[in-house]
Amino acid sequence: MRMYDLIEKKRDGFELDTDEIRYIISEYTNGNIPDYQMSAFLMAVYFKGMNKRETLDLTMAMRDSGDILDLSGIEGIKVDKHSTGGVGDKVSLVLGPMVAACGVPVAKMSGRGLGHTGGTIDKLESFEGYSTTLSEEKFISNVNNIKIAIASQTANLAPADKKIYALRDVTATVDNISLIASSIMSKKLASGADAIVLDVKTGSGAFMKEEKDAITLAQEMVSIGNGAGKDTIAIITDMDQPLGYAVGNALEVKEAIDTLDGNGPDDLIELCYVLGSYMLVAAGKTEDADMARVMLEKVVEDKSALNKLAELVEAQGGDKSFVYETEKFSKPSIIMEVPSVETGFVEKIDTSDIGAVSLILGGGRETKESEIDLSVGVVLRKKVGDKVEQGENIATLYANDLNKLSLAKDRLLNAFCITVTPAKAQPLIKWIVGKNGVKRY
Ligand code: URA
Repeated sequence: MRMYDLIEKKRDGFELDTDEIRYIISEYTNGNIPDYQMSAFLMAVYFKGMNKRETLDLTMAMRDSGDILDLSGIEGIKVDKHSTGGVGDKVSLVLGPMVAACGVPVAKMSGRGLGHTGGTIDKLESFEGYSTTLSEEKFISNVNNIKIAIASQTANLAPADKKIYALRDVTATVDNISLIASSIMSKKLASGADAIVLDVKTGSGAFMKEEKDAITLAQEMVSIGNGAGKDTIAIITDMDQPLGYAVGNALEVKEAIDTLDGNGPDDLIELCYVLGSYMLVAAGKTEDADMARVMLEKVVEDKSALNKLAELVEAQGGDKSFVYETEKFSKPSIIMEVPSVETGFVEKIDTSDIGAVSLILGGGRETKESEIDLSVGVVLRKKVGDKVEQGENIATLYANDLNKLSLAKDRLLNAFCITVTPAKAQPLIKWIVGKNGVKRY
């Protein structure tokens, strides 16, 4: 086989067979296909697309390019949750302990944040001493002992995706449904879960700004997951405003703790109940989503989910007292309120701008190598639909650097669109995408 011929075949709009796709992925991962040929191939895929069979083959080839976690040592059905990324998305920190407290094993490999979206691993490092690197044995024994482990992805999980993603990033080929879906799903399938619940975000803070694109991506990922023999479902959810109020690592962890303690924002807890219900059903805890919700509500009410978070922190070397004494989280030197310049109703919040506020303050990474400041970020005081008076605070900024603060404040004020007519927020949960089709929630 010659890479030249395969580039030509895809460029001319023909379908590649399974062996050809596997050849491209394994030879590129091994360094036998140069970046310039792979770039040309990715551009051909970008323009000519891949059908469902090709996309599944591509995903399986990338999954098989490295280690596949063997979770068979963990008792029960393992269900993973994946979010396509958003601003203020601290769902895993709430949902993981809730589901584990219901007796379902949570064996989660998570990532770090890049750009305006945060990563669960960075957030967990806000707990003093928390170790995000666990050996496979320790990861498995923690899940068996306390039902939950959350660790960073091992270096050799889907290495083809790492290499290809870096190339897509610099060749304007990120934005293609087959390439995005195979990239995400290759890592999920290598993470070894039996079933997958996907949270596909749509709106101004999401990768997929348009609802129809989010649905197409969800359909592709659901088709890959089920095609690979894993029970997979996707929920399309709103990212047209941040989830909850807090954006920034330690600030989000505190909000997650408040939520587990029964005092969280309505949108965050609702999303956790919906995703959690699908996870409990997929794990075989119950066949009825309403029953699953009752189980989840109970573990929040009786604090067993909150205590589960403390167990998780302790099992990974962290100081669990932070869960009960949140004032222990590191605080920045500057806390500044931002008053509204207008009176009216919040009509829109540009969510990627809110992510950028946290990034400017040092809470996110511009590049993979950037150091982040866990203590900084923003807590919104108003969300879409809220009434606001001139001079009333719309947000609080947490910073360590005065120069960055004024830039962040301007970006924040820009993100808010205030009008005189009452406005209404988008529904939080929009669509459910399963193997039998798409339905309104
Ligand atoms: N996230 C991924 O992991 N891959 C993509 O291609 C896009 C988002």
